[in-house]
Formats: sequence, structure tokens, C-alpha cells
Amino acid sequence: MSAMTSAPFLPVRHRPIEIAPETFVIQATVGEGVAPQAIHMNSMVIRGAEPVVVDTGCPIHREQYLDDLFGLVEPDDVRWVFISHDDPDHHGNLEAVMDACPNATLLASWFLCERLGAEGCSVPPTRWRWLGDGDTLDAGDRTFQLVRPPLYDSPTTRGLFDPVTGVYWASDCYATPVEQGTAFVSELDPAAWEAGFAAFNLWNSPWVSLTDAEAFGVQCRRVEQLRPAAIASTHGPTIEVSQVQRAFDMLRRLPVTPPPPQPDQATLDQIVAAMSTVPGG
Ligand SMILES: [Fe+2]
Ligand SMILES: [Fe+2]
Repeated sequence: MSAMTSAPFLPVRHRPIEIAPETFVIQATVGEGVAPQAIHMNSMVIRGAEPVVVDTGCPIHREQYLDDLFGLVEPDDVRWVFISHDDPDHHGNLEAVMDACPNATLLASWFLCERLGAEGCSVPPTRWRWLGDGDTLDAGDRTFQLVRPPLYDSPTTRGLFDPVTGVYWASDCYATPVEQGTAFVSELDPAAWEAGFAAFNLWNSPWVSLTDAEAFGVQCRRVEQLRPAAIASTHGPTIEVSQVQRAFDMLRRLPVTPPPPQPDQATLDQIVAAMSTVPGG
């Protein structure tokens, strides 16, 4: 048995961070400590009059995620569970949350429920509400706006804007890899942020290279005109208000930015060769 299989990988623990009043990013990463770069697998919770769970993290982080979530909000108090799209890093603990939260309604859409159903999702229609891009949700003390981010990797994607705090949840968009778990982009080297931002967004939504820059700009403007006070995303540190304009500028350049190369077979050969030199490997 190799050293890699005899020592199970334990994700690095990161605590939730309050990015705005009663608004917490639940942090997690993959690849941290074992790869040159790590990717955040964040989610969020908003403790308003009707608390909202915003995406539900990855299955591999379930124990940590549920600990963090229910350290912030009582299961009985959760009123809404917003799923941005049907990728497992966003709905990975949906059923566990719905099972624990008897008063919660799943905020999805027809297409999202169709696609989740194909994966065996057991949340019954009596607990669904269908909301698409451009719709709003009255949550008692605030009316959320669902706004699709300019870049996405699933047709079901909608972002969530909270007009009370100005926080926009961008799902997969505006993200960047990191060397280690990082709460805010201002903690990153600016050049590293720019390079990582381009790579992540171009790799996750390669179709942006097919778009006309002006037409893409129209989609960018939909988020820009919200004037967000912060942009939180699943796969990157939170973008604080001082950095929001820079993120907008970097995103608008992507239709004409050449995608950087991805790791190829030669890289995999090196990884496998390194494994065979591990003592006991
Ligand atoms: Fe995705
Ligand atoms: Fe994702």
C-alpha cells in the first residue's frame, strides 16, 4: 500500500467568516497542501428574518460543512435553501440540509429540479419553489434578486443579490485559485489574483472566448449595476468593495484574453513518477 493510500487526505479546516452583517461565507478548500494551488469550495448563509442557506458545499466536506452551518443557524430556523446550479460542489449536501431543516423550502427552477432528479434527488415537489434569472424572493426583511452571473458552467445558474447588505453570491463566477485558504482577495498578490482569475474563469467557461466583447459587456453590466458591496463566490476569496471594480474590469477583458494551458499528460507523468518514489509506494 502506498503512503498516499495509507494516509487518508484530510481537508484543511477553515472557519466561517462574516463578510457582511449576519452574512457568513462557510469556507472549505480542495487541493490545499497537496497541489500547487487550492480551490475554494465555499457556500454561504444569511441570517435575516428568514434565514437562507446559499449553496450547500461538497459531499467530501459534509461533516465540516454541517458543523459550520448549524453553528451559525438553528436547523428549525432555516426557511430557504438556494441552490445556484446543479453541480455537486453546490448541491452536495442539499438532502442532508433539507432533512435537518423541516421548515426549509428549496429555491430551484424547473430545469434545476429536472437535472437534480436525474441524479436521484429525493426532495419532494411540495418543498420546491421555482425561481429563475430575473425573479425575486420576498424573505420578510429583504427582497432578494436572482441575477445570472456573466460566466457559468451550467444552464441553470442564477446568482443571488441581497439589497440589504449589498452582497452578491456569484456561484462559479469571479473566482480564483489560491495557494492556501484565503478569506478576501485583498490578501492575494495582485498579479497572482489577475492570473488566477483569468485562468479559473476561462477554464470554467471556455465559451467566453466565443463571445463578442461588447455583447459580453452587456451581461457584465447586469451585475455591475447592482453596485455590490461584496462579491462572494464558491471558488474564490470574497471580493471586498475596494476590489469590486478591479474584478469587473478583469472579467470584461476575458473574451479577448488567451486561455492559459492546462496541466497535460507530461504533468500527469511527473505526478505518477513522484508517487512511485514515495517510500513504500
Ligand atoms: Fe459549476
Ligand atoms: Fe462550482
